Amino acid sequence: MKNFIVILLMSLVFFSCKEEKKKPNEEFIMYQSSEMAALMNTIYEGNMTIKNKILQGELLGGFLETYLNIYSAVLTNPANRNASFEAFSKLYIKNMKQVYSGSKDSLKQNFNQAVNSCIACHKTTCIGPIPRIKKLLIKLNS
Ligand code: HEC
Repeated sequence: MKNFIVILLMSLVFFSCKEEKKKPNEEFIMYQSSEMAALMNTIYEGNMTIKNKILQGELLGGFLETYLNIYSAVLTNPANRNASFEAFSKLYIKNMKQVYSGSKDSLKQNFNQAVNSCIACHKTTCIGPIPRIKKLLIKLNS
């Protein structure tokens, strides 16, 4: 029964990450954001806010529990949640927590390390958004 559901879900997927470049119209009609894609957009915005706070020297607040949803959010292609995906998720969460708990002197480095762990996972699962994610990186001599 479980396998049946998985196969059913997979056959319902019209849109996988690699097909991201569709004609705008087609995309508008066909694209249904997965839970994971929605979460990713939330953490992207969240990290852009963190980047700006770091650059302005503002306090970051606390680690956002929403980030932990990476362990459970439903992917466009549920088969992508394999051992490697879990490992990259853990690395990302660990690095993200380090941003909040690490020393102030290494804040920029720690933040970049977290962003690099987004990129590391994306290289294995979803290369489309990498150029966008790179915009989060903080130039260290700025
Ligand atoms: C463990 C792997 C992994 C990590 C870590 C990860 N991502 Fe993703 N990301 C994915 C996958 C897989 C998708 C595609 C989701 C889907 O299609 O359901 C995705 C999708 C996205 C998208 C596109 C969303 C959309 O609307 O299609 C953006 C933007 C994104 N991620 C940014 C980030 C940022 C920023 C980080 C780090 C703060 C990050 N990701 C960390 C795996 C990861």
